[in-house]
Amino acid sequence: MTILQLNSSARGDASHSTRLAATLAGRLRDADPEATLQVRDLNDPAHRPLDDTALTALFTAADQRTPEQAARVAFDDALIAEVQAADVIVLGVPMYNFGVSVQLKNWIDAISRAGVTFRYTAQGPEGLLKGKKVYVALTRGGKYRNTPADTQVPYLTTVLAFLGLTDVYFVYAEGLAMGADAEQAALAAAHAEIEEALAA
Ligand SMILES: Cc1cc2nc3c(=O)[nH]c(=O)nc-3n(C[C@H](O)[C@H](O)[C@H](O)COP(=O)(O)O)c2cc1C
Repeated sequence: MTILQLNSSARGDASHSTRLAATLAGRLRDADPEATLQVRDLNDPAHRPLDDTALTALFTAADQRTPEQAARVAFDDALIAEVQAADVIVLGVPMYNFGVSVQLKNWIDAISRAGVTFRYTAQGPEGLLKGKKVYVALTRGGKYRNTPADTQVPYLTTVLAFLGLTDVYFVYAEGLAMGADAEQAALAAAHAEIEEALAA
């Protein structure tokens, strides 16, 4: 089994979502000590936003690309290969300004490639990343679970399903900015939800 852990917080080692993602990945490895764990920090500046260079590169024949365009495609090719190779994907997802971090959005933009990770058929879109499990560790300063203000879960559910990733488990750490007691309670609840998700 290959596990891919993706950390999308801007907060480095202080990140709760990264710690929860690491706990999840660690528990998966406990269950399968032969498993390979690949960790990617999406906060690495090598992850660039989808810009004109990246888009133009995709629509330019490989032998016509500038070195900069070729490098952009090669970087995204490696991200796609990484997710294709994974059996289980663990995402650490902080809430920033009611959305996902730009780091995570950049990754989604990089791996969403027509004809490779999804395609359109006469019946509509078909996701091509099939047969994988996804665990998402959500961290929030406030509490928005099951409210209209939680745009992250509908967005991630939709975009992951578009790519063929339909077996998705969300675990929540909410109220992290609501005082020390609330923070401890949120983390304890998240750890309990991790165990429930792994047992599901
Ligand atoms: C720039 C920024 C924006 C934030 N926006 C929100 C928000 O919209 N809603 C919320 O509940 N918490 C918000 N928070 C609090 C974070 O969700 C909380 O600190 C969480 O632990 C972040 O995950 P991390 O520790 O993995 O970085 C924000 C924090 C930062 C730094």
